[in-house]
Amino acid sequence: MRKSVRAFTGEIVPTDIAQAMVLAAARAPSSKNTQPWKLVLLQGQALENLRADYSNAFNEGKPLAFEYTYSLDPLPEAYKKRAVELGKAFLTHKGIGREDKEKRKEHDGENFKFFGAKQVFFLAMNKGEYEQGTFLDCGIFLQALITELNNRELGCCVQYSAMAYPDLLRKHIPNSENLLFLLALPFGYPKTDSIANSFTTKREPLENFFRVVE
Ligand SMILES: Cc1cc2nc3c(=O)[nH]c(=O)nc-3n(C[C@H](O)[C@H](O)[C@H](O)COP(=O)(O)O)c2cc1C
Repeated sequence: MRKSVRAFTGEIVPTDIAQAMVLAAARAPSSKNTQPWKLVLLQGQALENLRADYSNAFNEGKPLAFEYTYSLDPLPEAYKKRAVELGKAFLTHKGIGREDKEKRKEHDGENFKFFGAKQVFFLAMNKGEYEQGTFLDCGIFLQALITELNNRELGCCVQYSAMAYPDLLRKHIPNSENLLFLLALPFGYPKTDSIANSFTTKREPLENFFRVVE
């Protein structure tokens, strides 16, 4: 069963394996075979430099500057209920009290350290060359990549929060001026004794979102 992984062993996935996964994921379907996805794998010193800047930015309260909105604001009631439930359940699982501001900030700050992953994929598409469907094409590609990771016992966590500082992404990712960054995907071998990784989210029952018409 796939689920988000937010703690990693630190073992590096060799570049030839990463390339094989990316090539397999690129067999994903896209409208008119347009293949609008761009993918950057950041690792080594380049990732450490970004991580340091990101962590400082978060700790200093640098204003978040998302370049595209992910969700309706406010969320529709049913979605809001699930989002609130997720937040509460995850904090409870980690033993963090609602009033514990310091621990909660530390918890949020994990996002800006990419959960300590030694390798992070950044998914993007060309600025100004997209419609709603282009996001869908990129999403299908992303899920194909997640499946490739899963097939090799690797774990990952999709991150929108990591899109908060696009200026820092462009500072550390060469030739990215014309990219719209969509999501980050820290990945690696899952740390088995991690409290974060032992958390499992719920799903709606089948009848709430699926029906057969005949
Ligand atoms: C588009 C998208 C953005 C997400 N952003 C974050 C994020 O910034 N931080 C995080 O910890 N998890 C993030 N997640 C992970 C979701 O919280 C997670 O997929 C959801 O709660 C279901 O849990 P599961 O993946 O373990 O099944 C994101 C997932 C998606 C699909």
